[in-house]
Amino acid sequence: MDMTMWRFGAAALGLWMAAAAGATGAAADPGATGAAKAAGREALMRAAEPAPWSGPAEAASQTPPGSEAVRPLRPLRNDIGERVQACMLCHGEQGRATPDGYFPRLAGKPAGYLFNQLRHFRDGRRAHALMSGLLRHMTDDYLHEIAGYFAAQSLPYPPPVAIGLSPEDRRRAESLVRLGDPARRLPACADCHSAAMTGRQPAIPGLLGLPRDYLVAQLGAWRSGQRRANAPDCMADIARALKPDEIAAVASWLSIQPPGAEPAPPSSTPTALPCGGLSP
Ligand code: HEC
Ligand code: HEC
Repeated sequence: MDMTMWRFGAAALGLWMAAAAGATGAAADPGATGAAKAAGREALMRAAEPAPWSGPAEAASQTPPGSEAVRPLRPLRNDIGERVQACMLCHGEQGRATPDGYFPRLAGKPAGYLFNQLRHFRDGRRAHALMSGLLRHMTDDYLHEIAGYFAAQSLPYPPPVAIGLSPEDRRRAESLVRLGDPARRLPACADCHSAAMTGRQPAIPGLLGLPRDYLVAQLGAWRSGQRRANAPDCMADIARALKPDEIAAVASWLSIQPPGAEPAPPSSTPTALPCGGLSP
């Protein structure tokens, strides 16, 4: 994990949270004068580029009467693209994260998958303190809107980073990904994640264009129970069936494949193991 990025994300998030708290405070104090509200709003605009994120009710309170006298630094567009700016501190512009860090790409992932993940973070099935804090008070409807926003971003992928992989590991990884291991009843990754490994609508993510460290961490988290998906959690079974050196080989191999295609369309064929949360 790149610690600089962490500190940057944490500092920016602090600003954002302070601004959000300011907005709520102003709304809760009906006695505040128009001028005080306007001054508060100006401070907020300065402190919080990106704009504070809030639900529709709070959003209305960000334009108190009398605020016309103060010209904001730029007009506040209260649309979803504006409100997800805080996410991009870590996930990159439009959710395009590059493969040289840890932060996963969000752009173009199936909307159902993104929605499920946002709920997992909010409800404690995935662990990341800052993200869970951000999502804590958001409704399912709002998480749907965020998921839809990132799913609709269609951006080119950066080329994969070069990672040395022995011919033996390369062969082992490719065989697990494309064929699985019938002796262990381990289905091929491609059975569910699609032949091109670009995922399948509406809720199976692609495995390409993700950093190796992120892939290793996710499979490890499933093994230890730190990451959970909707039951039945097929990925937990799969991660536990893989040996640690297989996880390392598969993650390295996946991370050096050229990424770039769209998720496959939905399929009515049942997945090789039952997985929860796959229906739209
Ligand atoms: C402080 C940095 C940070 C911020 C801000 C942040 N994220 Fe994340 N996000 C992460 C990290 C790190 C992970 C991977 C966590 C893990 O290891 O499971 C992640 C994972 C995710 C995932 C799962 C991706 C996948 O492929 O499974 C989604 C979806 C996501 N974030 C959405 C968001 C949204 C939406 C926001 C804004 C509300 C946001 N994030 C803000 C750091 C951040
Ligand atoms: C039986 C179907 C199935 C098979 C086989 C399968 N997966 Fe998955 N995988 C899923 C589903 C469903 C999810 C989404 C889970 C969730 O909602 O959190 C997923 C998610 C993942 C993720 C999380 C991606 C992210 O962005 O965080 C990784 C990594 C992953 N799978 C790797 C693999 C690997 C490697 C294999 C082969 C060894 C494999 N999967 C085989 C169904 C499958």
